[in-house]
Amino acid sequence: MDFMLRCIECNRKYEREDLYTCECGGLLEVKIDLESVDLDFKFDGSNLRVWKYKCLLPVKIDPISLKEGGTPLYKADYLKKQLNVTAYIKHEGLNPSGSFKDRGMTVGVTKAIELRKKAVACASTGNTSASMAMYAAKAKLNAYVLLPAGKVALGKVAQALMHGAKVIGIKGNFDKALALVREISDKEGFYLLNSVNPFRLEGQKTIAFEIVDEIGVPDRVVLPVGNAGNISAIFKGFKELKELELIDSIPKMTGVQAEGANPIYKAFVNHKKDIEAMTPETIATAIRIGNPVNAKKALNAVYESKGLVTQVSDEEITNAQKILAAKEGVGVEPASAASVAGFIKLVEEGRIEKDETVVCITTGHLLKDPETVIKICGSPIEVEANIEAIKKVL
Ligand code: F0G
Repeated sequence: MDFMLRCIECNRKYEREDLYTCECGGLLEVKIDLESVDLDFKFDGSNLRVWKYKCLLPVKIDPISLKEGGTPLYKADYLKKQLNVTAYIKHEGLNPSGSFKDRGMTVGVTKAIELRKKAVACASTGNTSASMAMYAAKAKLNAYVLLPAGKVALGKVAQALMHGAKVIGIKGNFDKALALVREISDKEGFYLLNSVNPFRLEGQKTIAFEIVDEIGVPDRVVLPVGNAGNISAIFKGFKELKELELIDSIPKMTGVQAEGANPIYKAFVNHKKDIEAMTPETIATAIRIGNPVNAKKALNAVYESKGLVTQVSDEEITNAQKILAAKEGVGVEPASAASVAGFIKLVEEGRIEKDETVVCITTGHLLKDPETVIKICGSPIEVEANIEAIKKVL
């Protein structure tokens, strides 16, 4: 398969692969020559995993894989009963490191090996760092992580540390950490694995492939938006399938932001193509991002697919997290619950039609952020070790 990097702003093409942005400053994307693709998979719902779609992924060597992808797509029975809309939940929290980032990392870390890099680096609200550390361990690469100190959920920090990354907390938010890691990666020759890396996003487009593989094309895909890579990647996946004539429509890409970290929502409601950076704050620390690097790609995905962007409060996020856990049996972290919070809100506002089929992506596992759970649910009751004491609190 042939591919190039192409600037989404000025259309300039590059044969070089070790780039993240164009000379004009624009974001790059991988442009696959679809005519050169030897399609060797079938959409038959079998063997779902990222590398089922290797013929559409721009790598040349055997992948560094931890068997990512193949995540379950649950029918949301409770939500159907409450809202009378058919919804599915694609639980990306069931990837090897507990988030969708693994789909991108298997491709990104494989590319790092192809490019003979010795070290990888990222800024992160947590999940990217956990995933990168895990795949770097598998690939025997050094891993460097910059985090917003004190603002990353405990499970994610634990993962990055245990998988052997050098973890550095900075006194600043994610946006600052990203600016710093871009600079230091440039200086030190680290391979940058944030979603500004176009190859990482290629892995994430397999979410679209798996959805089509299992249920065909839904009317809408709803997902949380932080740095805005995932919504761009999933849209690209659907678009490639349409260009290949494997599907004949593209779902309405529907982004959900937290009210306290909503620059893309604001751009959308003002019909703009650019965002204004802001200082972010939300319980959903994974999407606590005020200057999303992929904003242009994301807004383009939303406008082109006739989707939309909505925002939800921390309270709506927490409610959705509880509903998912207690009524659907799906344990997710707060940012992930934003997708379902947005879905509920849009149905209640009449902006999602009753006859739509909707897929909500839940991006990370409940266990990522145990501290928030204890804040919401409280600690377990403690009693004396005898039957009477237990009976009293039943
Ligand atoms: N959900 C979760 C659980 C995330 O960790 C992230 C991003 C998102 C949603 C948003 O995805 O950035 O592609 O729009 N987490 C990044 C990180 C920023 O560093 O782990 P996006």
